[in-house]
Amino acid sequence: MLQQTDFAQAYALVHLPAKVALVVTEKPLEGYNLITIEWFMRTSIQPSMIAISIGHSRFSHDCLEANRYFNLVLPGNNLHPLCNLAGSNTGREMDKFAEGKVESFPGKLHQLPVLKDAVAVFECEVVTQVKSGDHTIYVGEARHSWMNPEQELYYFDKKQGK
Ligand SMILES: Cc1cc2nc3c(=O)[nH]c(=O)nc-3n(C[C@H](O)[C@H](O)[C@H](O)COP(=O)(O)O)c2cc1C
Repeated sequence: MLQQTDFAQAYALVHLPAKVALVVTEKPLEGYNLITIEWFMRTSIQPSMIAISIGHSRFSHDCLEANRYFNLVLPGNNLHPLCNLAGSNTGREMDKFAEGKVESFPGKLHQLPVLKDAVAVFECEVVTQVKSGDHTIYVGEARHSWMNPEQELYYFDKKQGK
C-alpha cells in the first residue's frame, strides 16, 4: 500500500541503481578536478546540450564559476574506484587525478582531460546556468564527443553503497 514518507526515503527508492558520471573541471588556479554526479541529463538534441547539477559547497562549483568548461565522463566499470574517490573527497584537499592515477589526454575544446577508461566523454562549454536551491544547474553545449564501445557502463548501487 502506498504510504506517505519523507523525501529522503522516496528518493532512495527511485535511484536504484543510479547511472553516474564523472565531471572534469578546471581549477581556478591550476590543474583539473573530478566530481562524481548522479544529477545530469541531456537537454537538447540540436545543438547537443547537457545539464549537470552541482552543489554550492562543492569545489567543482568554484571551478565552474572560474572556468566555463566541463567534460562529462560516462565511466566504464574499471572507473568504479575513481567514482568512489571523486565522490567522497574534495578537490580542495586532494589532487584526484594524481591520487586516482587517472589516464587521460587533452581534449579538443579547451584541453580538459579526456579519460581513457570512459565509455563516452562529452566536451562541453557552459552556455547558461540556473540556481536550484542548494545546487546550480550548469547547461553545457557539447562540442566534441568520444566513445569506447568495448567498455561497459558503470552503475552506482546505492543499496551496497558502491
Ligand atoms: C554516487 C554519487 C552521486 C553524487 N551526485 C552528486 C551530484 O549530482 N551533484 C553534486 O553536487 N554532488 C554529487 N555527489 C557528491 C560529490 O561527488 C562529492 O561531494 C564530492 O566530494 C565533491 O567533490 P569536489 O568538492 O571536489 O567538487 C555525488 C556523490 C556520489 C558518491
